[in-house]
Formats: sequence, structure tokens, C-alpha cells
Amino acid sequence: MRKKIVAGNWKMNTTYEEGEKLVQGIIEKKSEVKGDVTLIVAPPFTHLCCFAEPLGKAGIGISAQNCASHESGAYTGEVSAAMLASIDVHYCILGHSERREYYGETNNILLEKVKLALKHNLTPIFCIGEKLGEREAGKQFDVVKGQLQAVVCQLPAADFEKIIVAYEPVWAIGTGKTATAAQAQEVHAYIRKVLADTFGDAANRTPILYGGSCNPTTAPELFGQPDIDGGLIGGASLKPADFISVAKGF
Ligand code: 13P
Repeated sequence: MRKKIVAGNWKMNTTYEEGEKLVQGIIEKKSEVKGDVTLIVAPPFTHLCCFAEPLGKAGIGISAQNCASHESGAYTGEVSAAMLASIDVHYCILGHSERREYYGETNNILLEKVKLALKHNLTPIFCIGEKLGEREAGKQFDVVKGQLQAVVCQLPAADFEKIIVAYEPVWAIGTGKTATAAQAQEVHAYIRKVLADTFGDAANRTPILYGGSCNPTTAPELFGQPDIDGGLIGGASLKPADFISVAKGF
């Protein structure tokens, strides 16, 4: 049995006060979600320190949306994995397509980030996915394979066991165009096969989340697929009722 996970990626949204209300709303509604579903919230850096305690007490995981590719030192504006660990953050989203696209994060940079996150006991939620043109050219399998081989497949087997993978087709992010359950399942099964080629049976234990316009309406069919173990939710994670409804899709 794999873990079932629903994680909310808030991206660059919410002032501190708005974030506090959102966290409170999620905590209040958490009991509506089945007990075997792990909820994770990924607010902006500025909110992490104050939200770690209430979320932890409520049994909800807290994640950063990024960390530095260096251990420490003269890197103005960066936040290290060690800093995140020191305030009881347990997860870190890495490789999101917005980071790859707007901040030039290459596979090499992402491998360094993943290694540092693991070194400091943060669980990476490692994002992969093809762009629209790549999907139209039928290259989605090659793209995700390349992204996995350059980063996740480079890890020692013991570290691989700690990873969460998120498949986020770029054309589905923020567009309202959810991948169909069949499209997502096809790629999830392929991702698991690529991982199994390197890590064998351990790939059957890796949670693979779907992300991209996942909402309360589309979640149940997606989460019903054999290789979809939950979701990484953007827009629908910004309202407690929507986020909890998505998690009730299990
Ligand atoms: P949306 O759910 O807004 O499409 O965003 C998905 C995403 O990028 C989560 O990381």
C-alpha cells in the first residue's frame, strides 16, 4: 500500500494574515478527510515558521516551495535546506515547472537541491512534466524519462525511498485543462516503470502525485487510477473548502 497524499502548493499567494485564515480553515475541516490521507500545505517562505506548529499539531505536513542549491554562505536572497529543517519543515517542492521556466533551474541545479534537501531530512516533492508542444509532438514519455534520469535516478537507493514524485503536465497547470484520468494514468505508469528500471521493487512504494488543474470535480477519477497516489494542488488549495473537497476525492 502506497501513501495517499494531497499537497497544496500556494505558490506566491496570500499575505501572512490571509495565509493564517487559510491554515485555520484547513485545520477546522481536516476531520472530513479519511484518516489514511496525508495532507501537506506549502505556503510561502515567510509563513513557514509560524505555521509549522499549528499544522504539526493538527497532523498536517508543512512544505517549502523551494530551497537553495548551496549549503550556506554568500547567496543573497536564498533559503537553505538546513534553515527549513531548523524550523520543522519536513517537505520541499523541487523542480516545479515555474522554477524551471522562470528561474532557469536545470536538472544539474535540481540534483544539488534534491541532495541537500535529503541531507537535511526534508522529503523532496520532485516535479516533472512536459510542455504543450512536447505533448503535441508525442514526446511526453521521453521528457519525463529525461527529467527522472537526470535527477531521481542519480540518487542512492536509500535516498530514492524518501522521494515523492509529482507529474505536472505544464499545459494543465493553471489553465483549467486537467489531464484526463487516462492521460495521467498512462504517464504515471510509465514514470513508475522508469523508476523500477533503476530501483526495482522500491518504485512500487513511491508516491506519484498528479498536478495540473486538479479540482474537487476531477480529483475522484484521477485518484481512482492505480498509479495516481494523490495530487499537488495549486489554485484549488487556496480555499479551505476546495482543498478539503479535493482530498475527499479518495
Ligand atoms: P493548478 O492546480 O493551479 O493548475 O496548479 C498546479 C500546480 O502547479 C501545483 O504545483
